Amino acid sequence: AHRVDHEYDYLFKIVLIGDSGVGKSNILSRYTRNEFCLESKSTIGVEFATRTLQAIFGVDEYDVALERCALLAMLPSWLKIVEGKTVKAQIWDTAGQERYRAITSAYYRGAVGALLVYDITKRQTFDNVQRWLHELRDHADSNIVIMMTGNKSDLNHLRAVSEDDGQSLAEREGLSFLETSALEATNIEKAFQTILTEIY
Ligand code: GTP
Ligand code: MG
Repeated sequence: AHRVDHEYDYLFKIVLIGDSGVGKSNILSRYTRNEFCLESKSTIGVEFATRTLQAIFGVDEYDVALERCALLAMLPSWLKIVEGKTVKAQIWDTAGQERYRAITSAYYRGAVGALLVYDITKRQTFDNVQRWLHELRDHADSNIVIMMTGNKSDLNHLRAVSEDDGQSLAEREGLSFLETSALEATNIEKAFQTILTEIY
């Protein structure tokens, strides 16, 4: 279908949160530009990037396409419902460090999803997940969809948080959970797809 009047049909704001150095900015650049930087600098203020996803299949074609291509099976189920529509994910990124953080209420305003990130090699960043959950409860909409990710899964030899610990915290708090690697591009797509699916 040709699209002349609207750039997108749905706009979803998603915020990235978690301690400094856990890899928020690299998760964002991997998802929106397929880029990773080993020596990235701490974020100052707020940055954001977008990714537009187009639903290209009609309901009938979709099921056939799924059988043919494993990659298509990763497409979220809402694509079926919003066939022909365009969804724009607008992802906001700010500093984990308190002193560089932008005004919190403005950051969370209008957000329908949050990616809460910790670093599997740094126990402290996992222990601080509770603090980030408090901040979400104080400032974000109560219906916000939260996905927790244990990032840097490529550094398994330096692991300080087991996947089981991540999973049980997620279950206790009612969050979705995945381990990711921005470096190896593991589960980055899936993390955002899960959020977008739950939002819709
Ligand atoms: P702040 O902006 O200070 O809050 O940090 P941040 O959460 O945005 O972290 P950033 O993306 O800047 O990454 C911090 C460091 O971790 C950088 O050196 C990245 O290269 C590295 N890093 C990020 N993701 C991964 C990953 O999946 N694996 C590995 N090995 N390193 C990663
Ligand atoms: Mg950053």
